[in-house]
Amino acid sequence: MLQKHFFLAHPTVFLKACYASKLELGGMDYSPQHLTPPPLCDIVPGDLQIDDCELHLQYSSVDRCAGKIEKKGATMDNYSKPIKNVTIVGAGFMGTLIGFHCAVKGYSVCLHDASTQALEKVMPSCAEKFDFLVANQAATANEKDNVIRQIRLARDIKRATLDTDLVIEAVPERLELKREVFAGLDQVCPAHTILATNSSSIPISRIEGATRRPDRVLNMHFYVPVRDNAVVELMRGTATSDHTIEQARQFVHSIGLIPILAQKESFGFVLNRIWRAVKKECLRVVDEGVASVEDVDQAWQAFLGTAYGPFFMMDVIGLDVVHDIEMSYYRESGDASDAPPKILLDKIAAGELGVKTGKGFYTY
Ligand SMILES: NC(=O)c1ccc[n+]([C@@H]2O[C@H](COP(=O)([O-])OP(=O)(O)OC[C@H]3O[C@@H](n4cnc5c(N)ncnc54)[C@H](O)[C@@H]3O)[C@@H](O)[C@H]2O)c1
Repeated sequence: MLQKHFFLAHPTVFLKACYASKLELGGMDYSPQHLTPPPLCDIVPGDLQIDDCELHLQYSSVDRCAGKIEKKGATMDNYSKPIKNVTIVGAGFMGTLIGFHCAVKGYSVCLHDASTQALEKVMPSCAEKFDFLVANQAATANEKDNVIRQIRLARDIKRATLDTDLVIEAVPERLELKREVFAGLDQVCPAHTILATNSSSIPISRIEGATRRPDRVLNMHFYVPVRDNAVVELMRGTATSDHTIEQARQFVHSIGLIPILAQKESFGFVLNRIWRAVKKECLRVVDEGVASVEDVDQAWQAFLGTAYGPFFMMDVIGLDVVHDIEMSYYRESGDASDAPPKILLDKIAAGELGVKTGKGFYTY
């Protein structure tokens, strides 16, 4: 029989309960300040089949922790809360766009970055983004304070994740860095928190092992610009639960975007694989001297009736980011045709990274 008991209690009580019932502890921080009385919990499992169970617990603040006793190997599906608080880890280009959009949609958002300089740019950037919405009649000026108040910054990862329900990681596209960030998040986030990566190519299955919550991790890939009716790709890892996917899907809907679920693991997901093929070929066409940047963009715009061409899009994304993504595909395939071409390497060597540096394939 599956036994499930949910606790919200002082850690001392958990320890006593665990020692008394010889349960295995998971996710426990044993530091002395967490062991001081008074105990607050009055729930002690009476009907547990101890050999079949394990206890998962995690602090939700310095003097309270949450835990659950359940059958070994069972998923944590009913160990969840509605998503209210969102943390963004990596407050660069994408992190700020995603965080701002979530705040506009009413979520309480905390942005964390390893760089103080990056954090300093967030509020001015969000204010500017809001003014853009007002100028385009997508918001009114008197809503600005409310939206900006929803946004918090934190250098300290523990503070950034104290009450978080969903973390969206947006650090640079490097597997080892993402694994390191996920391992750290797993340590500090509440037990119910879902951890998502905005990676452009790396499947979550390569990151999930850095955590002890593989049922609550997934790929959640946003596109630029992050605005209503844009696509967000979702992809599960080897153990992502249906419940996690459903929560992620509902969250994406709730911020006005369209969730697309990859039906199986795929390096680069769905739309991103297609967009990557376009990018790769455009770069090659120019690198081989077949056509100019301007002509490729113009041809694309005329053919598909879009406002922007691929080279302008790459400038917006950032050519360093495009390079990291291309390298990711190259490492995966080992195929020389996947290596970033000279035209991209030259731009990066010259520090011409696109819109953010004032020059990329175009000048801004
Ligand atoms: N740029 C795009 O258009 C785009 C689109 C979709 C997905 N992505 C993906 O989003 C991710 C971020 O891309 P970006 O363009 O925002 O990059 P970016 O360089 O603008 O931002 C990354 C941020 O992460 C911070 N960071 C680095 N290490 C950190 C750590 N250990 N902890 C906390 N913060 C850390 C950096 O200081 C920087 O501010 C990448 O995985 C990228 O592939 C990018």
